[in-house]
Amino acid sequence: MSLYSLLRPLLFQLAPDRAHDLAQTALRWALPWQVLGALSGLQQAKVRPAQYAGVALANPIGLAAGFDKNCDLLDALSQLGFGFLTVGSVMPEPRFGNPFPRLVRHPAEEALVDSMGVPSKGRAYAVERLKAFDRRRTIPILCNIGGFSAEEIARGFFEVEPYVDAVEISLMCPNVLGPGEHFDAIGLLEQILGLIEKRRKPATVRVPNDVAPSDELLSQLIETCIAGGVSGIKIGGGRPVVEPGLGTGRGTLHGAPIHDAALANLKRAVGFAAGRLDVKGNGGVFTATQAASMLDAGAACIDLYSAFIYRGWGIAREINRGLASRAA
Ligand SMILES: Cc1cc2nc3c(=O)[nH]c(=O)nc-3n(C[C@H](O)[C@H](O)[C@H](O)COP(=O)(O)O)c2cc1C
Repeated sequence: MSLYSLLRPLLFQLAPDRAHDLAQTALRWALPWQVLGALSGLQQAKVRPAQYAGVALANPIGLAAGFDKNCDLLDALSQLGFGFLTVGSVMPEPRFGNPFPRLVRHPAEEALVDSMGVPSKGRAYAVERLKAFDRRRTIPILCNIGGFSAEEIARGFFEVEPYVDAVEISLMCPNVLGPGEHFDAIGLLEQILGLIEKRRKPATVRVPNDVAPSDELLSQLIETCIAGGVSGIKIGGGRPVVEPGLGTGRGTLHGAPIHDAALANLKRAVGFAAGRLDVKGNGGVFTATQAASMLDAGAACIDLYSAFIYRGWGIAREINRGLASRAA
């Protein structure tokens, strides 16, 4: 039985937002995680090196955007055996986000529903954190950049790129849109790509959750990416749900229940991309079998969030070990 499986019932007694804050506070100290990482061999299961968007990864399992939104936890998170970290979404200015509660757990389903509304300490803060971490950087960092205009996102791209390995462009966050509002993600992407032609680091794009299920929109977005020299896309399977436990009453579903949709979306994206850009799989990955099915379907790498909450800090090691034993 792992230490986390003993701690989890205590953590889960707390309201999800509170537990989330507590976990973040614990991860602000690097030393205990260095010790834990060394003692429990969290970094030892580097099984199959991977490559995403031209970035070499020690292993294909990363932490997804949203957990370290402000780049505050890089030292500790680097010790946990992930092959890469996706930080952010970094927003242009400090934002409070949506009203609390913003996070609901459904433990029986290993699901999370969030309506964070992209809270952020703002880009200036995140850039300082990335800059301070740069000298100690031991694993690849992808930084997810958010914003509500092409100019804001392009500016964010140029400000973070000196300190990261690749930038992930977030085209929208459904949690800040009102009902019935339409966001032209592909039009926004075209504008952004026009503004970041002089970039030095690889650009990657997070496929918006409402674009992913439509063949027409997904193929159009992928063609726009390829025409604009984008090196990789992240595709998941999150979907909007009514959730009375949230302050907003509705949010986005993540975790185990979205895995099948995420895998199906990944397969379609790999088909449309036809080897012309890399695809990062995401959505409800908890086990080596699920990770293997995404890698076998053509994912260059995978990132996860819910499994980190439900299974704890050993999740990357666990999945990597499982991948290694499958390969043996
Ligand atoms: C609480 C929470 C906050 C998130 N915040 C962000 C974010 O700021 N930017 C982003 O691109 N994705 C964000 N995500 C989405 C995750 O990166 C990921 O795509 C999603 O959780 C699905 O993966 P999972 O099933 O492994 O959790 C967030 C997810 C959760 C649960």
